[in-house]
Amino acid sequence: MAFGHSQLLSGAAILLQMAQMAYAQQVYVRWNGTSPRPSCRGCDMPATPTYKFSTFAFTQTETYRYATSVAPATTTKTYARPYSALSSLMPSLTSTTWGNWSPNDTAATDTADPYGQAAWSSLWEWASPTNFTTTGIYSTTVSPTPLPSSELVHPPKDYFGPTDCYNFPDDFIFGVAGSAAQIEGAIAREGKGPNLMDVLARPGQANNYVTNENYFLYKQDIERLASLGVKYYSFSIAWSRILPFAQPGTPVNKAGIDHYEDLINFVLSKGMIPTVTMLHFDTPLQFFAANVSAKWDDVAIGYTNGAYQNSTFEEAFVHYGKILLTHYADRVPIWFTFNEPLLYSDNGASINTVVKSHARLAHFYKDVIKGTGKIGLKLNDNFGVPRNPQNASDLAAAKHFNAFQLDTFWNPLVLGIDYPDAFKKTVPDYVALNSTDLAYMKDTCDFVAVDPYTATVVSQPPGGIDACTSNSSSPYFPYCVVQNTNNTFDWNIGYRSYSYVYITPEYLRTYINYLWNTFRKPVFITEFGFPVFGEADKATREDQLFDSPRSQYYLSFMTEILKSIWEDGVNVMGALAWSFADNWEFGDYDARFGLQVVDRDTQTKWFKKSFFDLVGFVKDRHPNYEST
Ligand SMILES: *[C@@H]1O[C@H](CO)[C@@H](O)[C@H](O)[C@H]1NC(C)=O
Ligand SMILES: *[C@@H]1O[C@H](CO)[C@@H](O)[C@H](O)[C@H]1NC(C)=O
Ligand SMILES: *[C@@H]1O[C@H](CO)[C@@H](O)[C@H](O)[C@H]1NC(C)=O
Ligand SMILES: *[C@@H]1O[C@H](CO)[C@@H](O)[C@H](O)[C@H]1NC(C)=O
Ligand SMILES: *[C@@H]1O[C@H](CO)[C@@H](O)[C@H](O)[C@H]1NC(C)=O
Ligand SMILES: *[C@@H]1O[C@H](CO)[C@@H](O)[C@H](O)[C@H]1NC(C)=O
Ligand SMILES: *[C@@H]1O[C@H](CO)[C@@H](O)[C@H](O)[C@H]1NC(C)=O
Ligand SMILES: *[C@@H]1O[C@H](CO)[C@@H](O)[C@H](O)[C@H]1NC(C)=O
Ligand SMILES: *[C@@H]1O[C@H](CO)[C@@H](O)[C@H](O)[C@H]1NC(C)=O
Repeated sequence: MAFGHSQLLSGAAILLQMAQMAYAQQVYVRWNGTSPRPSCRGCDMPATPTYKFSTFAFTQTETYRYATSVAPATTTKTYARPYSALSSLMPSLTSTTWGNWSPNDTAATDTADPYGQAAWSSLWEWASPTNFTTTGIYSTTVSPTPLPSSELVHPPKDYFGPTDCYNFPDDFIFGVAGSAAQIEGAIAREGKGPNLMDVLARPGQANNYVTNENYFLYKQDIERLASLGVKYYSFSIAWSRILPFAQPGTPVNKAGIDHYEDLINFVLSKGMIPTVTMLHFDTPLQFFAANVSAKWDDVAIGYTNGAYQNSTFEEAFVHYGKILLTHYADRVPIWFTFNEPLLYSDNGASINTVVKSHARLAHFYKDVIKGTGKIGLKLNDNFGVPRNPQNASDLAAAKHFNAFQLDTFWNPLVLGIDYPDAFKKTVPDYVALNSTDLAYMKDTCDFVAVDPYTATVVSQPPGGIDACTSNSSSPYFPYCVVQNTNNTFDWNIGYRSYSYVYITPEYLRTYINYLWNTFRKPVFITEFGFPVFGEADKATREDQLFDSPRSQYYLSFMTEILKSIWEDGVNVMGALAWSFADNWEFGDYDARFGLQVVDRDTQTKWFKKSFFDLVGFVKDRHPNYEST
């Protein structure tokens, strides 16, 4: 039976109604008919087909397309005065250079110098990275070589793809992201001191000593991204490469300053725009001096101890941040102080350090150096959606889950109001904020930035939320909700990747609406990505490169971002894909979030299909992509 016109309309009406409800929550509405096909409305098909013969020939044509590079820069916009005009704000900075370290080196003799080569080497001897190797290929900056056009031919498109008609606003930011510890390598070279990431690996895992050798290959990495047409490059700076001794009053590593200087200038010369994260989990190891083993254990809030609670951390981080801002804010329009701070917070004092040091750096940026770019911090929260949005208990669980992860930071730093109850109940040793603190912190984020990889279906734990928040032995502590990845009918909420990431574009739109309407600042998607299930097990590179599930992930997420902008009226400022290449994922290389395959023996990279699909999607919908 063909389905009648009236059924079709009611189907479309229900879809419309559901789209409007998606604004608020995901609500389950039973539908008994066949699937509506709104795009078929008005098609006037005859009741039966007409069959006919013709002369067969291979007349099928295939179009092909080359990726085109971003246009090289002709002028450079500035967002602050250059370091030469700001250096007086950092009166006592001195700089030094150090060499490399290896356990077999003969000891340096300048032992009288508290910051000499011997003192620097002894930092590494103290850190004693397990199984230390320097098996990297490179020991000096590699000159970039232009990409042959053969590397830039778009792959075949997936048969099913986006059907939207929206464009991105002119000022929409599109780019790719990475972090220092996951890509740089060269961990004990050219003056870099040891940090948490250099000794992170637990038994059975491997530390990061080589990774992608981006410290030497950055020009080639940028050349590749620019050739593909990527506009923004989001990277993090390693604090221990700028200040190997970490503390104010200790010398700056000239090689570190010069490295990031050159990286920024090279990005700009290619017509791309840099964004900088000041701290992406790589706390200098000195902040664990009393007991390096404490980095994993007894962490009340996050899953690793980032030492933010160390009483010397705030002053030292602010000092380090000021060094970055005075040196680079003239050319860098977007700054993130912390990456996902909750995950590396130990206790209430950790959070206190994060919010206070963020606010101090934001004030320094706006009030002192009068930066005209934007500053904020980026948060983790795989959005908690209520198992049943019509159930008050599930709603309360979702509210608690998101408030704990987001409101803890943005209540003070955006709204200028106190920490949420979700945080105060869970972390009773929190440091109280008074009205002076709150007035100072208010509006110190220009955007709300999240890394919304996927969604989580939440409900209350046995005994309820409060029984859990007051019992740190509860298996649900500290989030104090049950987290599932299935819906009420036991289906997974989306296609599953290698690990916790499911393809959940509908929930992304709900999340974006939640952020915009709760905090009322532009929403910035600062990481999102998908480790395709079994990608590492695929025997041939050709199969690894044909990553259709990742394309589905990215194009569906980008389509929902467009709907948020045009249908919900949300200012989504931009989206940064994680990551521009497969990299070290804090212990191994198994979860591959990359848009490029990396050969670990030769450091050769290849663009995956999804990279072409994603950049192509944005360019097709961003008429002034080149000029913004
Ligand atoms: C769908 O079918 C069930 C069982 O026959 C019925 O109870 C329900 O009302 C129907 N729902 C709609 C929307 O037609
Ligand atoms: C240090 O020397 C030992 C013994 O000769 C050697 O096995 C090891 O590879 C060397 N380590 C490095 C990092 O050069
Ligand atoms: C060090 O090497 C040993 C032997 O290969 C291995 O079992 C261990 O997991 C490694 N440890 C780290 C932290 O890399
Ligand atoms: C905190 O950091 C300082 C270095 O700034 C260090 O001396 C001290 O031991 C650290 N505290 C702990 C508990 O590790
Ligand atoms: C160092 O921290 C570890 C892990 O928390 C703990 O087991 C150990 O007792 C601590 N050592 C000292 C000397 O405090
Ligand atoms: C809501 O969910 C809770 C927890 O699963 C359950 O106990 C309660 O009965 C539900 N309420 C309604 C009205 O369905
Ligand atoms: C508020 O707390 C800060 C410490 O965070 C303190 O320096 C200040 O004096 C307090 N102000 C008032 C009005 O209590
Ligand atoms: C806290 O949770 C643990 C683990 O579920 C449980 O054994 C213990 O009885 C709880 N304590 C209280 C006071 O409820
Ligand atoms: C969802 O998955 C969890 C964990 O696997 C399971 O316990 C639960 O029964 C499933 N179904 C629902 C509706 O939560």
